[in-house]
Amino acid sequence: MKIINTPKELSAYAKAQKDAGKSIGLVPTMGYLHDGHASLIKKSASENDVTIVSVFVNPTQFGAGEDLDSYPRDIEHDCTAAEAAGANVVFHPEPGDMYPAGYGTYVSVDSDMTKVLCGRSRPTHFRGVTTVVAKLFNISAADRAYFGQKDAQQLAVIMRMVSDLNMGIEIIPCPIVREPDGLAMSSRNTYLSPGERTQAPVLSRSLSAAKKLIDAGERDVKTLRDEISRIISCAPDADAEYIEFRSFPSLDECGGRISGKVLIALAVRFGKTRLIDNIIVNI
Ligand code: PAJ
Repeated sequence: MKIINTPKELSAYAKAQKDAGKSIGLVPTMGYLHDGHASLIKKSASENDVTIVSVFVNPTQFGAGEDLDSYPRDIEHDCTAAEAAGANVVFHPEPGDMYPAGYGTYVSVDSDMTKVLCGRSRPTHFRGVTTVVAKLFNISAADRAYFGQKDAQQLAVIMRMVSDLNMGIEIIPCPIVREPDGLAMSSRNTYLSPGERTQAPVLSRSLSAAKKLIDAGERDVKTLRDEISRIISCAPDADAEYIEFRSFPSLDECGGRISGKVLIALAVRFGKTRLIDNIIVNI
């Protein structure tokens, strides 16, 4: 497996692959890879001749006071994990190479979909995500890019950007990978204290309970939200930031009753750690 550190070198590598008729899959990550990331890499490796995994803690998607400096990093582990999952290249650039002096171009999806859910507490987050992802698409010349449903709003926003800007890349959504107790895998789970970690499965437990009610015929948003809220409040340290029902991928708020493809999305704080989880149901 190759490790490439500069956009220029990755562009040259990608061009050579394209000239040789190879298809390219891209898996954008911020590193500290876990089995959720590995599932995306494996899927890409099974569908493309070449898989590029980017490992870049992107400064433009962190707001003031967020965890940019403390975000966990371990590039050696990431290279081993990426290679084991089938990556051909790890792209690990320096911030100064992605955003050199004089940098001035941003890509932002300006509709409401970036202002709701996580966009409410993180108003500049999605602009940073779409900017870096657009750059990674250009540098890697990928045919397909793989994103987890774990970050369902991010997935929806990227799909919007690709459609709006006529980017010739296929976005492949991938299911959420969970710990045995249901907690969605996340690099940020390492921030949880042992006590918080024991309580964290309330997110997935509340979503499973809602799914069970829906399977039994429940369609009323208030009833479903109350049940989710009740289960989350069983965890003494949990503080729910939002519990929302929205159409997917347009992210319009559901009225009193759910119908169609519905995203049920949660953000819950445990002390300084903010966890997100979701399910998508088809009614
Ligand atoms: P990061 O949080 O490292 O996630 C990289 C990719 O892995 C995203 O598509 C995310 O949805 C997916 N992922 C994370 N946990 C997952 C899980 N438990 N199951 C399935 N997929 C999971 O998301 C980012 O980085 C950044 O915003 C990025 C897109 C790289 C732009 O900087």
